[in-house]
Amino acid sequence: MRFQSVLASASLLCLATAHAGHRRRSVPSSPEALNPKLTNTIPNAQGGPTLYYNGSGPVPPYDRTSPIPPPLHPLSKQEIEDNIFNELEAIVNGDSLTTKCSKCIAGTEIMHLAAITQPVDVVVNLLIRACEAFPTVKDSISAATCYEEYSGIGGTGPYLAQLFAKMSAATGDMQGWCYFQWDTCSQPPTIAIDESQYFKPKPENKTTAPTPSSSQKRIITARSIKTINVLHLSDWHIDPRYDIGSEGNCTQYLCCRPYSTNTDLSTTSANASIPASRFGSLYCDTPADLALSAFSTMDQFVKRSSINFTIFTGDIVSHDHTDQLSRDYVEYEEKITFETFKAQMGNSPIYPTLGNHDSLPEAYTSPNSISDGDSNGRSNLFSWNYELLANMWSSDGWISRSDASYASTHYGAYATVTSSNLKIISINTDFWYTANIFNYYNMTNPDTSGILTFLADELQKSEDINQRVWIIGHVLSGYDGSNALPNPSALFYSIVRRFSPSTIAGIFFGHTHQDQLMIYYDYLPNSTIATNSSSVLRNTTLVDYSKPLSVGYIGPSITPLSGNNAGWVLLEVDAETFSVVNTQTYFANVSDANSWTTPVWEFEYDTRQVYDPNNTVPANAPLDGPFWHGVTENMLANNTLVEVYNFLETKSSAVTKKCDTKACAEQKVCYIRSGSTTLGNACPQDSGPV
Ligand SMILES: *[C@@H]1O[C@H](CO)[C@@H](O)[C@H](O)[C@H]1NC(C)=O
Ligand SMILES: *[C@@H]1O[C@H](CO)[C@@H](O)[C@H](O)[C@H]1NC(C)=O
Ligand SMILES: *[C@@H]1O[C@H](CO)[C@@H](O)[C@H](O)[C@H]1NC(C)=O
Ligand SMILES: *[C@@H]1O[C@H](CO)[C@@H](O)[C@H](O)[C@H]1NC(C)=O
Ligand SMILES: *[C@@H]1O[C@H](CO)[C@@H](O)[C@H](O)[C@H]1NC(C)=O
Ligand SMILES: *[C@@H]1O[C@H](CO)[C@@H](O)[C@H](O)[C@H]1NC(C)=O
Ligand SMILES: *[C@@H]1O[C@H](CO)[C@@H](O)[C@H](O)[C@H]1NC(C)=O
Ligand SMILES: *[C@@H]1O[C@H](CO)[C@@H](O)[C@H](O)[C@H]1NC(C)=O
Ligand SMILES: *[C@@H]1O[C@H](CO)[C@@H](O)[C@H](O)[C@H]1NC(C)=O
Ligand SMILES: *[C@@H]1O[C@H](CO)[C@@H](O)[C@H](O)[C@H]1NC(C)=O
Ligand SMILES: *[C@@H]1O[C@H](CO)[C@@H](O)[C@H](O)[C@H]1NC(C)=O
Ligand SMILES: *[C@@H]1O[C@H](CO)[C@@H](O)[C@H](O)[C@H]1NC(C)=O
Repeated sequence: MRFQSVLASASLLCLATAHAGHRRRSVPSSPEALNPKLTNTIPNAQGGPTLYYNGSGPVPPYDRTSPIPPPLHPLSKQEIEDNIFNELEAIVNGDSLTTKCSKCIAGTEIMHLAAITQPVDVVVNLLIRACEAFPTVKDSISAATCYEEYSGIGGTGPYLAQLFAKMSAATGDMQGWCYFQWDTCSQPPTIAIDESQYFKPKPENKTTAPTPSSSQKRIITARSIKTINVLHLSDWHIDPRYDIGSEGNCTQYLCCRPYSTNTDLSTTSANASIPASRFGSLYCDTPADLALSAFSTMDQFVKRSSINFTIFTGDIVSHDHTDQLSRDYVEYEEKITFETFKAQMGNSPIYPTLGNHDSLPEAYTSPNSISDGDSNGRSNLFSWNYELLANMWSSDGWISRSDASYASTHYGAYATVTSSNLKIISINTDFWYTANIFNYYNMTNPDTSGILTFLADELQKSEDINQRVWIIGHVLSGYDGSNALPNPSALFYSIVRRFSPSTIAGIFFGHTHQDQLMIYYDYLPNSTIATNSSSVLRNTTLVDYSKPLSVGYIGPSITPLSGNNAGWVLLEVDAETFSVVNTQTYFANVSDANSWTTPVWEFEYDTRQVYDPNNTVPANAPLDGPFWHGVTENMLANNTLVEVYNFLETKSSAVTKKCDTKACAEQKVCYIRSGSTTLGNACPQDSGPV
């Protein structure tokens, strides 16, 4: 091999020379030069050896192999770990790499190589050692110690070992990880979406929403259509460890626990600055009585028996630290929550979706394709959770057994049809949530799990039979752009644009704990980058703000965390088209909780009264994209209206931060107009509360 390559490079050199036009000059031949004598003709000094030509005589032939160096002594497992750790340390603390980004990428590559060659315990040890050695890592953990975070009660290390094994520079994973998790690299560009992989082009006859049901005339003030009541609940976050009287304004997460303290005020739970009320506290999760009162007081505003169905957009479990959570705790919370919902709402169905807190570790969800599944041979590491939830949902009669069977093998997702023929598609939005570590491999594929393909397929089936659809999820696709990863968020935007406003009648999220919404728009004609017979590449950032198509409602939370009042929304919905024609929000002013003898819930606002006080929109017309776009136009012209929206976002909380500047108003409107992360990221930042 070696001989051949020497020859090969020699002949390459000749070729190069010939190519460069250098031809050997013909020199007069001399008889001496042609003398074929294979030994020296110039005599050596006395005692010197004879020297040879052309490998003749004792010159070793070409085929002699030489001894190779003996191997270094094999490293023990401990020595391998130490060596890998030394490299990490040299990369992080040394000066051979000079930028934070290059250090982060190189360190992640080392972890990738460790994960594909070493047993899991070595990777976990490396994580613990890196955490103990590097302050950036230590500051990022949620558990009390590095050990508890990665190996002890928190135990995220074995999951991270799976992630590191799967990462590749080929799909930009290290850069993505180093930007989104460690803020050390520049943001990777958002990909163009190859829409043809997910759906057919929008047909000409599917570009408008159905007209409001049974409405022959446009009645201005009185509704002449049949409507149904739908309850939207979100972010329940019940805290079964809530301690009455403990410090409610603590300086460390989570407040209202026996161990909560305020280090600024030198208070503990024994002499709390704001003692946690039995009925709730502004910086705490939901205690039992606040949670139950949301239902028990509901009948004074709307009879529960008149609620056609409920959507619950996720987040059951309290905001505990990594090392306070366990599978037992998550399962307990999930069980008592759905048992409570069932008991409170009777036969009125509830359509739930998974929140990032409804798993263990928090936010972790992995694609079925990642591994051989769990240790019991099931399809996914988190099958225990999907099976538990899906079984509860079907035994409560909310979804069918076949829907539950799909959900238990597909991340809790399902598509179900209500008794009034609305399809509800529930997706697991952890597949775009930035805190789900399993999103940091194959990052240029916007749908590694297949969840968005499922969504598009279900929408297509409904379009084919003129059935309307609601999409429910937990983590929002856009707004300020801090929650969803750009590529899946871009694909979702394309799906929404494709099936709106004709098939999609509503989109609902939770997660922020605030009462908000986003508008999705059509694309500009020049958003199509390249087309050929089989493919449409879409630049999802080129949107036409004069063509609003759809609205994503972000439901307010039951939990007050952080600084919000508790709230829920009643939707008034066209009984045939399932378009939302009005919404009303109800709230409990948690600032007053210490003076209550029982939680006081109140009517907060009616959307039409607040945002269309002069009834310019016909009563039967939906609160659709154009309606809300008009509201944002009014907001830009009238800062008072922005302040109204800003106050209602927190459910009229006494600690709402002001949004009384033009910069804040423009930022707020930009967020409302951003249904995807890349659009949200392009908004002005830091001009006021999100
Ligand atoms: C040099 O060696 C090669 C092969 O070993 C042979 O073909 C060639 O004739 C030799 N040249 C002379 C001048 O002997
Ligand atoms: C999409 O368009 C924006 C604005 O022109 C541009 O900055 C971006 O690079 C484009 N993205 C793709 C994937 O072509
Ligand atoms: C709508 O368009 C599609 C394809 O463009 C066609 O197959 C379908 O028949 C049309 N439907 C109606 C009601 O015209
Ligand atoms: C909570 O405590 C902080 C000091 O840690 C203080 O600045 C703040 O005013 C307190 N909040 C309330 C509502 O009392
Ligand atoms: C609260 O109690 C702690 C522990 O007993 C004490 O150190 C602290 O001074 C008290 N704080 C106030 C504000 O009284
Ligand atoms: C929901 O609405 C449908 C259609 O109007 C009706 O058949 C069903 O009984 C209603 N369910 C409830 C719980 O009101
Ligand atoms: C990554 O995505 C590609 C498509 O972009 C897919 O073919 C491949 O199977 C995915 N790899 C993994 C490990 O999921
Ligand atoms: C796309 O078209 C819009 C509106 O016509 C224009 O403002 C924008 O500059 C164009 N962008 C690109 C990247 O071509
Ligand atoms: C069309 O585009 C797709 C995706 O970009 C590509 O795979 C395919 O080869 C293209 N076909 C032609 C005929 O150029
Ligand atoms: C909530 O209660 C606080 C404390 O009593 C009060 O200052 C505030 O005005 C109340 N908010 C509303 C919207 O009623
Ligand atoms: C509603 O009408 C009144 C009286 O014409 C006008 O002063 C007010 O500005 C209008 N409000 C809005 C939001 O357009
Ligand atoms: C601005 O908005 C406020 C709050 O909705 C409203 O009371 C006021 O009439 C609006 N002003 C104008 C000029 O429309």
